[in-house]
Amino acid sequence: MNVFGVDIGGSGIKGAPVDLARGDLAEPRHKVLTPHPATPDSVIDGVKEVVDHFGWSGPVGITFPGVVTDGVTRTAANVDKGWVDLNAQSVLGERLGMPVTVLNDADAAGVAEMTFGAGAGRQGTVFLLTFGTGIGSALFLDGKLVPNTELGHLELHGREAEKHASTKAKEDEDLSWEHWAKRVTKYLAHLEMLFSPSLFIIGGGVSRKADKFLPLIEGIRAEIVPAQLQNNAGIVGAAMAAAKR
Ligand code: BGC
Repeated sequence: MNVFGVDIGGSGIKGAPVDLARGDLAEPRHKVLTPHPATPDSVIDGVKEVVDHFGWSGPVGITFPGVVTDGVTRTAANVDKGWVDLNAQSVLGERLGMPVTVLNDADAAGVAEMTFGAGAGRQGTVFLLTFGTGIGSALFLDGKLVPNTELGHLELHGREAEKHASTKAKEDEDLSWEHWAKRVTKYLAHLEMLFSPSLFIIGGGVSRKADKFLPLIEGIRAEIVPAQLQNNAGIVGAAMAAAKR
C-alpha cells in the first residue's frame, strides 16, 4: 500500500508517496524551499504544492520540526512562532481535504530507521539523531518510541547543543569536519553519560557524508552508524504514522 509522506524541514519541504511494504519512496520525491518566515500559512501552501505535484488523494503523514502532541504543534525553535499551540493536524487536514497525521520529524525518521533501516531488530536503548538546521532526537527502548524527547536543546558549553553542533552551526561558523566532529563527539558523550544507549543512528542530510565525519568520532562506547534511509527517513516515517491512524 502507498501512503503519502511529507517532511517539513528548516530548508526544504519534501514529500513523495511511500511504498509501505518496502519502506521506500514509490516515486522520486518533490521538494519546495521552506518559506522564510516559516509561518503556518506559508508552510501549509508549500505542503499543498508538494502533495498536489503528485495529484495525491488519501492519507498524508507530515513531520514537523518541533514538539507535537495529539496533532498540536507545541514548540517552534526553527520555524515561525505562529505554530506554537496550533492544531496543525486539523488545519492541514482542512487545507488538503485529506486525513492528516502530524508528528515530530526526528520521531518519524527514527520509526522508519527502526523498522526498515539501521535500527531494524535492535533491542535496548537506541537513539536516532538528526543533524540539520537543529538537532532532533528519537529515543527507543526495545523498539518502542518515547516521543518528543527534544535532546537537541540540552545544554553543552553554556549553549543549546543544537546551536553548537548542528550542521547549520558547521555552515554558519565554517567549521572543518574535524572541528565539527569534536563538537558532535562531546554531544554524544553527554547523551551517553545520561542514557547509556547501545546504538546511535546518525540521520539528517549529513548522513550522506558519514565517511567524512564518523571515522573522526572516537571514545564513545555505543555503536555509531549512519541512517540507512538517509534523508528520506522522515518522509517514510510520516507515511507509516498516517497508515497506522
Ligand atoms: C526541534 C525538534 C526537532 C529538531 C530537528 C529542534 O529545534 O525542537 O523538535 O526535532 O529541531 O528538526
